[in-house]
Order: sequence, then C-alpha cells, then structure tokens
Amino acid sequence: PKVIIPATQGILAYEISKRTGITLSYAELEKFPDGEKYVRVSEAVKGSDVFIVNSFHHMPDEMIIETIFLIDIFKSVGANEVVGIFPYFPYSRFRRFIGGEANRLKTISKLFRTAGLNKMYVVDFHLQNVEEFFDFEVINISAMPLLADYVKRNFELEDAVVVGADEVAEFWARIVSEKLGTDYKLMRKIRIDAENVIIDSVPDVSNRDVVLVDDIISTGGTVVQAIKALRHSGAKRIYAVCTHPLLSNEALKLIYRAGIDGIVGTDTVLSPISHVSVAEIISEEI
Ligand code: R5P
Repeated sequence: PKVIIPATQGILAYEISKRTGITLSYAELEKFPDGEKYVRVSEAVKGSDVFIVNSFHHMPDEMIIETIFLIDIFKSVGANEVVGIFPYFPYSRFRRFIGGEANRLKTISKLFRTAGLNKMYVVDFHLQNVEEFFDFEVINISAMPLLADYVKRNFELEDAVVVGADEVAEFWARIVSEKLGTDYKLMRKIRIDAENVIIDSVPDVSNRDVVLVDDIISTGGTVVQAIKALRHSGAKRIYAVCTHPLLSNEALKLIYRAGIDGIVGTDTVLSPISHVSVAEIISEEI
C-alpha cells in the first residue's frame, strides 16, 4: 500500500493522488504561540510506502523541521519507504564556499537522511550534480518540456530565440529551445546581492522574439535587468519562463513594470503565474 501526505502543497498532493490512485491522507500540523511545531499523523501506515508532498518556498526552515518530524514519525510507526516529493528544494543556490560558511544543503541532507528519508523527487533542482549532496536516491525531473509546450500554445512567437538567464540556465535553455525548434543563447550576470544583479554580457537578439529561461524567479532582479539588456540588444517581444516562481516581495509587479510580454511558471510554488502543473510528470515517475 501507498499513502500520500501533504505537508504544504495540498492541491499538488491531491492532483498526484487523483492521477496515481494513491490514497490521500493528511497530517495535523500546528504552530504554538512560541513558534514550536506540533505534528501528528493518524493514518495507519505500517508496511506502506509514504509520500510526503512539500515545497519549501515559504519559511523553509519551519517546513524543514516539520518534514523531519513527519519522516521520523512514519519511520517509527513502521512505514516501509518514506519518500519526499519536494518539487522546490530550498538552499540549492549558494555561492562558492568561503571559510567558516555552513554547507546548508549538505546539513539538511544529513538531517533528512538521519530522520529516515529513503528517496526524494525534485523538479529542476538548481544544481545539476544534485545527487552529490544527498546520501539517498534523488530523482530530478524537468518541467521545461511542459513550459515549452505552454509557450508554444499561448505566446505569439516570430523568429524566436531562447535565452538562458545565465550559464547555469544553459541546461534548461537547451531543453526549451529543442522543444520550440529555435536556437539558444546565454546571458552572463554578476550578482551583487540578494536583489541586485548586473548583466555583463547579452547576446545579439536584434528583431527577434525572446523566451528568457531560468529555473527560479525570486526577487525578479534578474528578469528585470534581463528585459532592459535584451531590449537594448534589439529584442521584440520578451517572454519569461521559470519552473519555480518564488516571486518574493514585489517581484511580479517589477517584472510587469519592466515590460514583460508574457510570463509563466509551474505549481512547484503556487503563484499568480503558475499556469503549468507538474502533477502529471511527478505521477508518471512515482
Ligand atoms: C540563480 O542562479 C537562479 O538561477 C536565478 O537566476 C535566481 O534565483 C533569480 O533570482 P532573482 O529573481 O532574485 O534575480
């Protein structure tokens, strides 16, 4: 038997359960006035495989501790495999290590492992070498083909070119360009701080429609600067595509103000631009 437990992402858990026929259950999650968490599960899961659905986009530290409690409960009541469906995984973007810095991703990975997590599914993890950070099986699924399909169906494109927001985005830009049958180019950016980036190299996109591709849109700083740079380089229409629309603070407003012609993300993080669902591609894998 298999059971799905939503921690956050109730809708996604429901959609996966509907597609796979796996029983949807629930966990009681509460927060005390002092900030402590209470977690209880009532489903009898002895001998079952349990899938915990969670995206850590909002207050990730709280979500992480809740998830650790959940994994530990399921293991201690005799679940067979405990599997994470964690479409957006936090702490995956970090600078090169300098002395004294916590290796946060590695630490979280150790905590999940120690609690008893057997396997996890992620979507477009920021690092392509994701498995090097985890001592358990990680399945990294890409939503980029689905996003490209959405672009084809909904955005008007003429002589389009796909542009990756930076070198890390090359992997995703290539997938989208193959699906759209276009070429792809890359920008280069320098990050100043959490909200500010400088685009220090932009490809020639004269008279072409641009599909800008990135894995995450957080503050919108990258997209806003990219729009300016691409317009300067002759772009006609500019569309933005991302898997994880974190859209912190006023990101969406800034992006619209900068003059984006269309923008889409997935439901790994629920947002006003989550027009593509990853429920199907996750359901096919589990
Ligand atoms: C970082 O390298 C990611 O791929 C994104 O480019 C980044 O997270 C976007 O962040 P923001 O929207 O804050 O510029």
